[in-house]
Amino acid sequence: MAQVTIEKLTKVFKQPGGKTICAVNQASLEIMDGEFLVLVGPSGCGKTTLLRLVAGLEEINEGTISFDGAGINHLAPKDRDLAMVFQTYALYPHMTAYENMAFGLTLRKVAGAEINQRVRETAGLLGLADCLDRKPKELSGGQRQRVALGRAIVRNPKVFLFDEPLSNLDAPLRAQMRLELSKLHKRLAATMLYVTHDQTEAMAMGDRIAVMKEGVIQQVAEPMVIYHQPANLFVAGFMGTPPMNFFRGTLAQREGGVFFEERTLRDTAAASGFSLRLGEAGTVGLAGHIGRAAVFGIRPEHIAEKLEGLDAGAGQRIEATVEAVELLGAEAHLYASTGAHSFVARVQPGFRAKPQQKISLVFDVVRAHCFDPETGTTIM
Ligand SMILES: Nc1ncnc2c1ncn2[C@@H]1O[C@H](COP(=O)(O)OP(=O)(O)OP(=O)(O)O)[C@@H](O)[C@H]1O
Ligand SMILES: [Mg+2]
Repeated sequence: MAQVTIEKLTKVFKQPGGKTICAVNQASLEIMDGEFLVLVGPSGCGKTTLLRLVAGLEEINEGTISFDGAGINHLAPKDRDLAMVFQTYALYPHMTAYENMAFGLTLRKVAGAEINQRVRETAGLLGLADCLDRKPKELSGGQRQRVALGRAIVRNPKVFLFDEPLSNLDAPLRAQMRLELSKLHKRLAATMLYVTHDQTEAMAMGDRIAVMKEGVIQQVAEPMVIYHQPANLFVAGFMGTPPMNFFRGTLAQREGGVFFEERTLRDTAAASGFSLRLGEAGTVGLAGHIGRAAVFGIRPEHIAEKLEGLDAGAGQRIEATVEAVELLGAEAHLYASTGAHSFVARVQPGFRAKPQQKISLVFDVVRAHCFDPETGTTIM
């Protein structure tokens, strides 16, 4: 297996009107030997382009790619010792599952007996042993996807590249394949770079996650770090369902503490919304931001009617108006408004409230964040 190092990779496309688009912009990323790294970001942010650059399917404008320290920029795709699994699995319709899996090895002139052994072993691993004689149209979607995976695995590559391989499957099958892929990764101990636009998939599968926006990698870290310590407003808002709530306002220092004061109108400095005293530990980085605009961010699970297990004074109350309640079985989502901002709280499954009802809620300010609205950078 191999360590993949991507340094300052850039890819510019010329579009028909003569405009150019920087699909990948100075991207640097290291995928450790045996790591499962998930690259996540919204549609059009450059994920597929980055994978295709690694695979050698696109020409690089700037930057280097190396496997175990050796540059591979100059190598043709077939010499890169990697296998790519695409969203559309593109199996050969006239070939059986066995032939589809064996095809790449036949092309590479691997001996017949070895092909047979590798295909049968891989089929066993993927639960396809009984399907080998069937053609793609006689297989279910999940089985087809596994054949496409098998076709990559039999080649025993150093690196696997996946481009949204599960997005054609329905939700239950997707969840099942997600689990199987994770198990497979442990078994093969292979280096894997996995692309998805689905942040749940990224959280569930990644050893680490790289979040991308408009060609630029925003943050690379373990899932829980991405979730709890987002580097900026974009990462904070992208990861998590329902997403983090954001409130515009200003920071003020008084009574020996730092306060976030909600602003109800964009164009006045008057703070006439709620006021929250921020947790002391988090306010160190706010020194340069007192008296200036800030965005306050808090996740739905850190808002409640009452917060159990909080130190006295750590939770800060605000008043809001109920807009709607969604009962989801295991939990409930409360949609509410402060007048200036709408937000969502993840509350107890038995929660009941009527629209327009006034409600008092606790914000766990110790778990909250602040962002600089101009740069988007996390300041708390
Ligand atoms: N061959 C090309 N020629 C011109 N522009 C391209 C080409 N390929 C991609 N682009 C543009 O580059 C940007 C990144 O595209 P890319 O396919 O990498 O996005 P993505 O993150 O994979 O999106 P999705 O989640 O929708 O698959 C897009 O704006 C796209 O329109
Ligand atoms: Mg794509």
